[in-house]
Amino acid sequence: MRIVSGIQPSGKLHLGNYFGMMRQAIDLQRKGDAYLFIANYHALTTVAEATKLREATRDVALDFLACGLDPEKAVFFRQSDVPEVQELAWILSTLTPMGLLERCHSYKDKLARGMDATHGLFAYPVLMAADILLYQANLVPVGKDQKQHLEVTRDVAIKFNNRYGEIFTIPEGFIPETVATVPGTDGQKMSKSYNNTIPIFGTDADIKSAIMGIVSDSTPLEAPKNPDTCTVYALYRLFASEAESQAMAEKLRAGGYGYGHAKKELLAVYHAAFDPLRKKREELEAAPDYVEDVLKKSADRARAEARKTLDAVRRAVGLA
Ligand code: ADP
Ligand code: TRP
Repeated sequence: MRIVSGIQPSGKLHLGNYFGMMRQAIDLQRKGDAYLFIANYHALTTVAEATKLREATRDVALDFLACGLDPEKAVFFRQSDVPEVQELAWILSTLTPMGLLERCHSYKDKLARGMDATHGLFAYPVLMAADILLYQANLVPVGKDQKQHLEVTRDVAIKFNNRYGEIFTIPEGFIPETVATVPGTDGQKMSKSYNNTIPIFGTDADIKSAIMGIVSDSTPLEAPKNPDTCTVYALYRLFASEAESQAMAEKLRAGGYGYGHAKKELLAVYHAAFDPLRKKREELEAAPDYVEDVLKKSADRARAEARKTLDAVRRAVGLA
């Protein structure tokens, strides 16, 4: 089974990325051959500074390796180290209906947030389709917000196969319905663009101020509270066992237990989960050649796979 996913290096990775995508992608490396890449071509649609892009790319590499991505099992590379994807994106764009792209929520949301309507932003899902189809993915682990992009990918692949023959595997999404969208410190979807994130890796002070700053309502300490509308509880559940979650829910419902108490418990489970990974990240950071070496070697492997698909596509459409 071929598993393919990517993540943009557009800012510090956060709990939404971790629970929504990274954890699934990393778990799947044991179930098939996984191709995971740092989507730096995609990030160019939002990051306009070379130094920033380079730094963010390195950070994502360190984050994934620290979180358990095993380069012996998964192929882990920079998207731009396999430029073949651009040729495929162009070919796919010639059969992608404008209407399909015009309907994409992610594009519309970005414009609504004031981003310039560039061609790159508009064509973003076509490049994503190329990422997925180039490696003949069966399964694509992503968060819920990428579901529509996957549908675009499937539509384009089916259209291509109907026109030119069965070249592409039609991919399925692997979208964990049990992990609802992870809320940010303001209760909205956690997102790099909303300034409401809790990073996976940060200093103790950063993490503490993010967690203690989670917005809560003004129910007094003594009063019963509803766990279902409590952001701290929603985040706690991601880390805690069923029994631990139940226990917190009961304390909230009973009253006499404040949001401050819940935040302290959240901080504790956060540290228990991520402190060991942070240590691993520090070790990796001290060995920059190792990280670069992993990315380069993986890119060679990815490129060999990419070449096979692209050659078949070029023959099918009459370019070769
Ligand atoms: P951001 O919104 O912070 O820019 P990305 O769009 O780069 O995040 O998302 C990278 C991956 O993480 C995607 O698969 C996405 O679905 C997932 N993801 C991002 N934020 C969340 C969230 N709040 N809850 C669940 N999954 C998320
Ligand atoms: N668009 C994805 C995101 O923002 C990143 C991405 C690019 C991706 N190419 C991909 C994800 C291919 C899965 C497969 O999260």
